[in-house]
Amino acid sequence: MLVLGIESSCDETAAAVVDNQKRLLSSVVYSQAEHQAFGGVVPEIAARAHLQKVGSVVETALAKAGVTFRDLSAVAASAGPGLIGGVIVGVMTAKAIAAVHNLPFIAVNHLEAHALTARLGQDVPFPYLLLLTSGGHCQILIAEGIGKFKRLGATVDDAAGEAFDKAAKMMGLGYPGGPKIEQYALNGDAARFDFPRPMVGKAGCDLSFSGLKTAVRRAVESFAPDGVLEHAVLSEKDIADLCACFQRAVLETLCSRLKNGIKTFKKEHPEGTHLVVAGGVAANRALRGALENLAKKNKLTFAAAPMNLCTDNGAMVAWAGMEHFLAGQSDPLDFSPRPRWPLDPAAKR
Ligand code: KG4
Ligand code: ZN
Repeated sequence: MLVLGIESSCDETAAAVVDNQKRLLSSVVYSQAEHQAFGGVVPEIAARAHLQKVGSVVETALAKAGVTFRDLSAVAASAGPGLIGGVIVGVMTAKAIAAVHNLPFIAVNHLEAHALTARLGQDVPFPYLLLLTSGGHCQILIAEGIGKFKRLGATVDDAAGEAFDKAAKMMGLGYPGGPKIEQYALNGDAARFDFPRPMVGKAGCDLSFSGLKTAVRRAVESFAPDGVLEHAVLSEKDIADLCACFQRAVLETLCSRLKNGIKTFKKEHPEGTHLVVAGGVAANRALRGALENLAKKNKLTFAAAPMNLCTDNGAMVAWAGMEHFLAGQSDPLDFSPRPRWPLDPAAKR
């Protein structure tokens, strides 16, 4: 069985083909460079770029997999949450393919696609404790089954990836900031600046990163003769130290909040075995290392999305589609794309 997955909810136009044996037959990702000048994703530009690219990205994914539309068992698309213009492009493309070739259409929740990606690389049984951390989302959840998530906590302000991007922008490092900060942090002194660990010590699993962002801003401003951020004069060493301190603060915050999550997870699911990380920030090696330690200390097995499938891609959508397809689920062709689509409908915020 083969599923084609299409991703277009942010600034990646992507498509991939997976089979029911967890084989990734192809994965094509076009990352829109159009946003670089703006230091963030511009929704209208993103939607137009998706429209221009989606056809060729899908064709290339099929060609690389050596299959045609006729070989597919189903077609899936990220149907939300995300920038709605882009989501509509991917969903309409998938629906058109489904209609023409008489295939089931599967509307995939983008967050669930991230959440299930670790299962594409290895055997990760439900239930598992999940840290979902990307540019738009930062949540701690229990993945109980396909389409079944219980949210233990979420950020009350910025997502961790967003904090990486904003901190990088303040230091003039460009977008996306995560990989750049990770690189600089390798050579930095993680004790030079005293940054806060928001929420640490409080009950529950909610997170917050805006105070940390403000602390980085103040630190960068202190390097400007007139205190204006844009006038800061930073040496390579200053940048490396700022990055190391910032990254350490993020990691310690995430781990500390997850400790509470582990307690709840073990209480509710004593049979649970895995701690999983997914989403763009899961590509951070220092984070993966810290989480591996945390899992070991708590007698859990650590699992992560494969390195190349952490940031947005079509494979995660195709695989989530496959999981739903194997469970006998598909969606009607009048399914409406959703700008908001919480994994746990009971979670209020
Ligand atoms: O999952 P993703 O591609 O898009 C969303 O659904 O948001 O995540 C992108 C985010 C960006 O904020 C980017 O800075 C962050 O993931 N990211 C990283 C790393 N690679 C990507 N953050 C920290 N370290 C990295 N190596
Ligand atoms: Zn994403």
